[in-house]
Amino acid sequence: MAQNTSTAVMQRRAEPHDSLDDFPTPPWATRALFDHLQGVLWWLHTDSDTCREPAANRGHMVRPLREFFASVEASDIHNYGAGFPVQDYLFGPDPAPVDWTVTNPPFRLAEQFIERALRTSRHGAAMIVRTAFLEGVGRYERLFSQHPPRIVLQFTERVVMHKGKLAPKGSTATAYCWIVWTSDHKGPTEFGWIPPCRKRLERAEDYQLQAEG
Ligand SMILES: C[S@@+](CC[C@H](N)C(=O)[O-])C[C@H]1O[C@@H](n2cnc3c(N)ncnc32)[C@H](O)[C@@H]1O
Repeated sequence: MAQNTSTAVMQRRAEPHDSLDDFPTPPWATRALFDHLQGVLWWLHTDSDTCREPAANRGHMVRPLREFFASVEASDIHNYGAGFPVQDYLFGPDPAPVDWTVTNPPFRLAEQFIERALRTSRHGAAMIVRTAFLEGVGRYERLFSQHPPRIVLQFTERVVMHKGKLAPKGSTATAYCWIVWTSDHKGPTEFGWIPPCRKRLERAEDYQLQAEG
C-alpha cells in the first residue's frame, strides 16, 4: 500500500506520553478569540480584567492577551527563555483567583488544566484545543456534562502549530477550536464559527519577535 506522506498528514500533532507538548499558538488565533467574544459577551470588559496564562511557553499567547487584558500573569513548567516563572500549574493548592484563565493546555493534562482554571477564574476560562477534544464519553461525563461551556468556537481556517516554534507558513491536518466557559452560564452550549480572520489579525512582528528571541 502506498504510504501517505503529504505534509499535512505528517504534521499531525501526536506526542509521546511524557511530552511537554511544546506547540506555540500563533498570536492571530488568540486575537481571533477576543475579537469574536467582544461581539458575543455583552458584559466583557477585558481592559479592566486580570488574566492568567499558566502554560505560557515562549509567550506567543501572552503577548496578544496583553493587548486585551489589564494584566496577564504568565508561567510555565519549563523555562523556554521568555523570563516567566517556572511553575507546575497542577502542583499544590489552587492559585489565587484571576478574572480569566486562557491557554493552550498540554493535551494529556487538558482536563486537569480546565478543572483548575474553572475553580480559579472569576469571569471565565478559554482553552484552545484540538477539535477532537470535544468527543469522548468519559470526557463528556467528567467535564462537559458537569461544566457546560458557554460557547465552542470552531476555526474555519486551519491554525498551524509547529513543534517548538512559530511558523508563518505550513499546513496541518489538525483542526482547532476555542472552548469558553463563563461563570454566569450553566448551559446549554452554543456553537459558533470563527470566520476567516488570519489576514486581518496576523502581524509581521508576531514572527519577528521570535527571531529576536
Ligand atoms: C501546547 S503548549 C502551549 C504554549 C502556549 N500556551 C502557547 O499557546 O503558545 C503547552 C505548554 O504547556 C507547558 N506545560 C506542560 N505541563 C505543564 C504543567 N503541569 N504546568 C505548566 N505548564 C505545563 C509546556 O511546557 C508547554 O509550554
